Amino acid sequence: MKVSINGKTALVSGANRGIGKAITEALLDNGAKKVYACARNVASLNDLSTKYGDRLVPVELDVTKDESIANAASTASDIDILVNNAGVMVPGNFAYGNMLESMKTNFEVNVWGLTKLTDAFFNKLKISESAAIVSISSVAGLANMPLISTYSASKAAVHSIVQGLRGELRDSNVLVCGVYPGPIDTEMAKGIEMEKDTPENVAKNVIQAIEDGVEDVFPDVMSKQVGAGYMASPKAVETQFGGFSS
Ligand SMILES: NC(=O)c1ccc[n+]([C@@H]2O[C@H](COP(=O)([O-])OP(=O)(O)OC[C@H]3O[C@@H](n4cnc5c(N)ncnc54)[C@H](OP(=O)(O)O)[C@@H]3O)[C@@H](O)[C@H]2O)c1
Repeated sequence: MKVSINGKTALVSGANRGIGKAITEALLDNGAKKVYACARNVASLNDLSTKYGDRLVPVELDVTKDESIANAASTASDIDILVNNAGVMVPGNFAYGNMLESMKTNFEVNVWGLTKLTDAFFNKLKISESAAIVSISSVAGLANMPLISTYSASKAAVHSIVQGLRGELRDSNVLVCGVYPGPIDTEMAKGIEMEKDTPENVAKNVIQAIEDGVEDVFPDVMSKQVGAGYMASPKAVETQFGGFSS
Protein backbone atom coordinates (compact mmCIF):
# COMPACT_ATOMS: atom_id res chain seq x y z
CA MET A 1 0.00 0.00 0.00
CA LYS A 2 1.41 3.38 -1.01
CA VAL A 3 1.11 6.25 1.50
CA SER A 4 1.53 9.81 0.28
CA ILE A 5 3.41 12.03 2.75
CA ASN A 6 1.65 15.14 1.46
CA GLY A 7 -0.72 16.61 4.06
CA LYS A 8 -0.04 13.86 6.59
CA THR A 9 0.67 14.23 10.31
CA ALA A 10 3.50 12.17 11.77
CA LEU A 11 5.17 11.44 15.07
CA VAL A 12 8.89 10.64 15.25
CA SER A 13 10.54 9.32 18.42
CA GLY A 14 14.14 10.41 19.02
CA ALA A 15 13.67 13.34 16.63
CA ASN A 16 16.37 15.56 18.12
CA ARG A 17 19.39 14.01 16.42
CA GLY A 18 20.73 11.42 14.01
CA ILE A 19 18.35 9.41 11.84
CA GLY A 20 15.23 10.63 13.68
CA LYS A 21 16.08 14.26 13.06
CA ALA A 22 16.80 13.56 9.38
CA ILE A 23 13.46 11.72 8.98
CA THR A 24 11.63 14.57 10.72
CA GLU A 25 13.13 17.09 8.30
CA ALA A 26 12.50 14.86 5.29
CA LEU A 27 8.83 14.43 6.25
CA LEU A 28 8.37 18.20 6.55
CA ASP A 29 10.38 18.91 3.38
CA ASN A 30 8.18 16.42 1.48
CA GLY A 31 4.83 18.00 2.34
CA ALA A 32 3.86 16.61 5.76
CA LYS A 33 1.32 18.92 7.37
CA LYS A 34 2.76 18.52 10.86
CA VAL A 35 5.33 16.44 12.73
CA TYR A 36 5.24 15.75 16.44
CA ALA A 37 8.97 15.71 17.07
CA CYS A 38 9.67 13.74 20.23
CA ALA A 39 12.70 14.02 22.48
CA ARG A 40 13.59 13.37 26.08
CA ASN A 41 14.80 16.96 26.31
CA VAL A 42 12.55 19.25 24.25
CA ALA A 43 15.14 22.05 24.32
CA SER A 44 17.20 19.85 22.00
CA LEU A 45 14.50 20.46 19.35
CA ASN A 46 14.93 24.26 19.34
CA ASP A 47 16.79 24.40 16.03
CA LEU A 48 14.07 22.35 14.30
CA SER A 49 11.34 24.54 15.85
CA THR A 50 13.06 27.66 14.57
CA LYS A 51 13.36 26.16 11.09
CA TYR A 52 9.83 24.75 10.72
CA GLY A 53 7.67 26.94 13.00
CA ASP A 54 4.18 25.62 13.82
CA ARG A 55 4.50 22.58 11.55
CA LEU A 56 6.88 21.09 14.11
CA VAL A 57 5.34 20.33 17.49
CA PRO A 58 7.93 19.46 20.17
CA VAL A 59 6.80 16.66 22.49
CA GLU A 60 8.63 15.36 25.53
CA LEU A 61 8.93 11.58 25.24
CA ASP A 62 10.98 8.99 27.06
CA VAL A 63 9.92 5.59 25.70
CA THR A 64 10.92 3.86 28.93
CA LYS A 65 8.33 5.87 30.90
CA ASP A 66 4.68 4.83 30.67
CA GLU A 67 3.35 8.24 31.70
CA SER A 68 5.48 9.96 29.08
CA ILE A 69 4.08 7.64 26.37
CA ALA A 70 0.50 8.24 27.55
CA ASN A 71 1.04 12.02 27.44
CA ALA A 72 2.51 11.85 23.94
CA ALA A 73 -0.40 9.68 22.75
CA SER A 74 -2.97 12.12 24.06
CA THR A 75 -1.14 15.15 22.59
CA ALA A 76 -0.63 13.54 19.19
CA SER A 77 -4.05 11.97 18.76
CA ASP A 78 -4.31 12.87 15.06
CA ILE A 79 -1.31 11.13 13.50
CA ASP A 80 -1.21 9.17 10.26
CA ILE A 81 2.44 8.07 10.42
CA LEU A 82 4.29 6.68 13.42
CA VAL A 83 8.08 6.50 13.17
CA ASN A 84 9.60 4.25 15.85
CA ASN A 85 13.16 5.56 15.71
CA ALA A 86 14.36 6.08 19.32
CA GLY A 87 17.01 3.56 20.22
CA VAL A 88 20.18 2.81 22.12
CA MET A 89 23.12 0.56 21.34
CA VAL A 90 24.80 -0.81 24.44
CA PRO A 91 27.52 -3.24 23.31
CA GLY A 92 27.38 -6.53 25.16
CA ASN A 93 27.87 -10.29 24.97
CA PHE A 94 28.74 -13.29 27.15
CA ALA A 95 32.51 -12.83 26.77
CA TYR A 96 32.35 -9.18 27.96
CA GLY A 97 30.48 -10.43 31.02
CA ASN A 98 27.73 -7.84 30.61
CA MET A 99 25.17 -9.95 28.78
CA LEU A 100 22.38 -9.44 31.31
CA GLU A 101 22.68 -5.67 31.92
CA SER A 102 23.17 -4.83 28.25
CA MET A 103 20.29 -7.10 27.19
CA LYS A 104 18.06 -5.34 29.71
CA THR A 105 18.92 -1.82 28.58
CA ASN A 106 18.74 -2.58 24.86
CA PHE A 107 15.40 -4.32 25.30
CA GLU A 108 13.94 -1.63 27.57
CA VAL A 109 14.37 1.05 24.93
CA ASN A 110 14.51 -0.75 21.59
CA VAL A 111 11.86 -3.40 22.23
CA TRP A 112 9.62 -2.45 25.15
CA GLY A 113 9.76 1.26 24.30
CA LEU A 114 8.87 0.61 20.68
CA THR A 115 6.15 -1.88 21.62
CA LYS A 116 4.52 0.45 24.14
CA LEU A 117 4.62 3.41 21.77
CA THR A 118 3.10 1.34 18.96
CA ASP A 119 0.44 0.01 21.31
CA ALA A 120 -0.46 3.57 22.31
CA PHE A 121 -1.07 4.55 18.66
CA PHE A 122 -2.31 1.27 17.15
CA ASN A 123 -6.04 2.06 17.27
CA LYS A 124 -5.61 5.76 16.47
CA LEU A 125 -3.78 4.88 13.23
CA LYS A 126 -6.70 2.78 12.05
CA ILE A 127 -8.82 5.95 11.94
CA SER A 128 -6.58 7.59 9.33
CA GLU A 129 -7.49 7.20 5.66
CA SER A 130 -3.99 5.92 4.91
CA ALA A 131 -1.39 5.40 7.59
CA ALA A 132 2.06 3.94 8.17
CA ILE A 133 4.05 2.48 11.03
CA VAL A 134 7.77 2.74 10.34
CA SER A 135 10.13 0.95 12.72
CA ILE A 136 13.90 1.22 12.63
CA SER A 137 15.53 -2.17 13.11
CA SER A 138 19.07 -2.74 11.79
CA VAL A 139 21.01 -5.12 9.56
CA ALA A 140 22.11 -6.53 12.94
CA GLY A 141 18.47 -7.53 13.44
CA LEU A 142 18.72 -9.90 10.47
CA ALA A 143 21.84 -11.69 11.76
CA ASN A 144 23.66 -11.32 15.05
CA MET A 145 26.94 -9.37 15.31
CA PRO A 146 28.62 -10.88 18.41
CA LEU A 147 30.30 -7.62 19.53
CA ILE A 148 26.85 -6.11 19.81
CA SER A 149 25.04 -9.36 20.50
CA THR A 150 22.37 -7.97 22.82
CA TYR A 151 21.68 -4.97 20.59
CA SER A 152 21.35 -7.41 17.66
CA ALA A 153 18.88 -9.48 19.68
CA SER A 154 16.80 -6.38 20.40
CA LYS A 155 16.74 -5.45 16.72
CA ALA A 156 15.80 -9.04 15.77
CA ALA A 157 12.87 -8.64 18.15
CA VAL A 158 11.92 -5.41 16.34
CA HIS A 159 12.07 -7.32 13.03
CA SER A 160 9.70 -9.95 14.41
CA ILE A 161 7.34 -7.34 15.90
CA VAL A 162 7.20 -5.64 12.50
CA GLN A 163 6.31 -8.94 10.82
CA GLY A 164 3.56 -9.58 13.37
CA LEU A 165 2.15 -6.08 12.96
CA ARG A 166 2.13 -6.49 9.19
CA GLY A 167 0.17 -9.69 9.51
CA GLU A 168 -2.31 -8.12 11.90
CA LEU A 169 -2.75 -5.11 9.65
CA ARG A 170 -2.89 -6.90 6.29
CA ASP A 171 -5.66 -5.55 4.06
CA SER A 172 -5.96 -2.51 6.35
CA ASN A 173 -5.24 1.18 5.84
CA VAL A 174 -1.83 0.86 7.55
CA LEU A 175 1.46 0.24 5.75
CA VAL A 176 4.01 -1.46 8.02
CA CYS A 177 7.64 -0.71 7.14
CA GLY A 178 10.70 -2.31 8.72
CA VAL A 179 13.91 -0.35 8.14
CA TYR A 180 17.26 -2.17 8.29
CA PRO A 181 20.13 0.35 8.17
CA GLY A 182 23.81 -0.53 8.06
CA PRO A 183 26.37 1.78 9.71
CA ILE A 184 25.15 5.38 9.62
CA ASP A 185 27.15 8.46 10.60
CA THR A 186 25.44 9.39 13.88
CA GLU A 187 26.38 9.62 17.55
CA MET A 188 25.38 5.95 17.98
CA ALA A 189 27.93 4.71 15.45
CA LYS A 190 30.75 7.08 16.35
CA GLY A 191 33.05 4.28 17.65
CA ILE A 192 32.46 2.00 14.65
CA GLU A 193 35.35 1.95 12.18
CA MET A 194 33.40 1.23 9.00
CA GLU A 195 32.33 3.23 6.01
CA LYS A 196 29.10 4.98 6.97
CA ASP A 197 26.23 6.41 4.99
CA THR A 198 24.47 9.64 6.02
CA PRO A 199 21.27 10.01 8.07
CA GLU A 200 19.95 12.22 5.28
CA ASN A 201 20.30 9.38 2.75
CA VAL A 202 18.50 7.01 5.14
CA ALA A 203 15.71 9.56 5.56
CA LYS A 204 15.36 10.11 1.80
CA ASN A 205 15.03 6.35 1.25
CA VAL A 206 12.55 5.93 4.11
CA ILE A 207 10.32 8.65 2.64
CA GLN A 208 10.54 7.03 -0.80
CA ALA A 209 9.67 3.64 0.71
CA ILE A 210 6.55 5.03 2.42
CA GLU A 211 5.46 6.70 -0.82
CA ASP A 212 6.12 3.51 -2.82
CA GLY A 213 4.62 1.12 -0.26
CA VAL A 214 7.89 -0.77 0.28
CA GLU A 215 7.73 -2.97 3.40
CA ASP A 216 11.38 -4.00 3.87
CA VAL A 217 13.61 -0.95 3.60
CA PHE A 218 17.38 -1.19 3.05
CA PRO A 219 18.17 2.53 3.11
CA ASP A 220 21.95 2.79 2.63
CA VAL A 221 24.87 1.38 0.70
CA MET A 222 25.81 -1.48 3.08
CA SER A 223 22.25 -2.48 3.92
CA LYS A 224 21.36 -2.83 0.24
CA GLN A 225 24.19 -5.39 -0.09
CA VAL A 226 23.27 -7.17 3.16
CA GLY A 227 19.58 -7.15 2.22
CA ALA A 228 20.31 -8.81 -1.14
CA GLY A 229 22.62 -11.33 0.58
CA TYR A 230 20.02 -12.06 3.24
CA MET A 231 17.33 -12.70 0.66
CA ALA A 232 19.68 -15.16 -1.11
CA SER A 233 21.10 -16.89 1.99
CA PRO A 234 20.39 -15.89 5.62
CA LYS A 235 23.05 -18.44 6.69
CA ALA A 236 25.75 -16.71 4.64
CA VAL A 237 24.96 -13.39 6.37
CA GLU A 238 25.01 -15.11 9.77
CA THR A 239 28.46 -16.53 8.99
CA GLN A 240 29.74 -13.17 7.74
CA PHE A 241 28.44 -11.23 10.78
CA GLY A 242 29.61 -13.98 13.16
CA GLY A 243 33.13 -13.16 11.99
CA PHE A 244 32.83 -9.62 13.41
CA SER A 245 33.66 -10.89 16.88
CA SER A 246 36.80 -9.01 17.86
N1 LIG B 1 23.61 4.74 13.42
C1 LIG B 1 23.58 3.50 12.98
O1 LIG B 1 24.61 2.99 12.48
C2 LIG B 1 22.31 2.69 13.02
C3 LIG B 1 22.28 1.50 12.28
C4 LIG B 1 21.13 0.72 12.32
C5 LIG B 1 20.05 1.13 13.06
N2 LIG B 1 20.11 2.30 13.77
C6 LIG B 1 18.93 2.66 14.55
O2 LIG B 1 18.46 3.93 14.14
C7 LIG B 1 17.76 4.55 15.21
C8 LIG B 1 18.31 5.96 15.40
O3 LIG B 1 19.68 5.86 15.79
P1 LIG B 1 20.77 6.99 15.48
O4 LIG B 1 21.84 6.32 14.72
O5 LIG B 1 20.13 8.21 14.94
O6 LIG B 1 21.34 7.20 16.95
P2 LIG B 1 21.50 8.47 17.90
O7 LIG B 1 22.06 9.62 17.16
O8 LIG B 1 22.22 7.93 19.08
O9 LIG B 1 19.99 8.84 18.28
C9 LIG B 1 19.24 8.03 19.14
C10 LIG B 1 17.96 8.76 19.45
O10 LIG B 1 17.17 7.94 20.31
C11 LIG B 1 16.79 8.73 21.44
N3 LIG B 1 16.56 7.92 22.63
C12 LIG B 1 17.44 7.11 23.29
N4 LIG B 1 16.85 6.59 24.38
C13 LIG B 1 15.58 7.08 24.42
C14 LIG B 1 14.49 6.93 25.30
N5 LIG B 1 14.58 6.16 26.41
N6 LIG B 1 13.33 7.57 25.03
C15 LIG B 1 13.22 8.36 23.93
N7 LIG B 1 14.23 8.58 23.07
C16 LIG B 1 15.40 7.94 23.31
C17 LIG B 1 17.96 9.69 21.63
O11 LIG B 1 17.56 10.75 22.48
P3 LIG B 1 18.60 11.54 23.44
O12 LIG B 1 19.23 12.59 22.60
O13 LIG B 1 17.77 12.06 24.54
O14 LIG B 1 19.62 10.52 23.91
C18 LIG B 1 18.20 10.09 20.18
O15 LIG B 1 17.26 11.03 19.77
C19 LIG B 1 17.95 3.64 16.43
O16 LIG B 1 16.82 2.84 16.60
C20 LIG B 1 19.16 2.81 16.03
O17 LIG B 1 19.19 1.58 16.72
C21 LIG B 1 21.20 3.08 13.76
